[in-house]
Amino acid sequence: MERREIAQLVRTHMERRLEPEGKKEYIVAANWKMNMSAKEIKAFLKEICDTDVPEYLHIIIFPPFPYLPYAQEMLRYEAVAYGAQDVAEQDKGAYTGEISAAMLADCGCSYTLAGHSERRAYYGETSDVVARKASKALEYEIVPVICIGETLEERRSGAYKEVLKGQIEEAAKVCKERLAQCIIAYEPVWAIGTGVIPTIKEIGETHRYIHDVLASECNNAGGRFQILYGGSVNESNVKEIASVPFVDGFLAGGASLKAESFKNIIKRLSLDGCL
Ligand code: 13P
Repeated sequence: MERREIAQLVRTHMERRLEPEGKKEYIVAANWKMNMSAKEIKAFLKEICDTDVPEYLHIIIFPPFPYLPYAQEMLRYEAVAYGAQDVAEQDKGAYTGEISAAMLADCGCSYTLAGHSERRAYYGETSDVVARKASKALEYEIVPVICIGETLEERRSGAYKEVLKGQIEEAAKVCKERLAQCIIAYEPVWAIGTGVIPTIKEIGETHRYIHDVLASECNNAGGRFQILYGGSVNESNVKEIASVPFVDGFLAGGASLKAESFKNIIKRLSLDGCL
């Protein structure tokens, strides 16, 4: 299946949200960050191709840039989508080290991350830059997964809602009505790689809040937004988080690096169906 078709499929599925038999649809995404070798990636992709994935789960893999051609080759006929971890805000030109949306499209990417908290923290990406990256991806029919999240201080001080709202508002300023076509990944910075996750109540409140901000930014135009949760997701906590309203999937880091643990996440979401 062509990558664009898969993106469309995911969107159609997610819009339907509830299957007749009551199964909720989920995106299960793997952000490999700057990890893995060519050999490990080929082995992982082969395993994922051999894995039984129920229709209501949509897998997206985000390998490092140089390995995208492996995904392009090995996932060509598979219902597993893939994307890049970042995209340039410019079209082309003298931007050494940058990778354009057109190049990602050439590599068959259906998705790209934008504004992961590591990019924001280590490379100074502001919400405005992130919004431009997302907008550029959309121009090339690549679905951006815009990452947002607050630091521990912002959570503790109660400022987190303003922070999240600000991140979404900046995206809305640039993406405008196309914001509804973006996926949002809520990744509290303090939950990334720490083994600490917010309580189920906190995840529920925050996802609902993000949904409401998105709805208001999109003038309550209806439809569904896709909001993923990320931060120390693993096979032990994924099922409970999946039961939270407005959680439409996951962006896993550490637990996605080994095929075994990533497959266990898929398995946990497959067992007994979900909501
Ligand atoms: P961990 O799952 O390792 O906490 O990482 C989450 C993440 O940053 C995914 O983008």
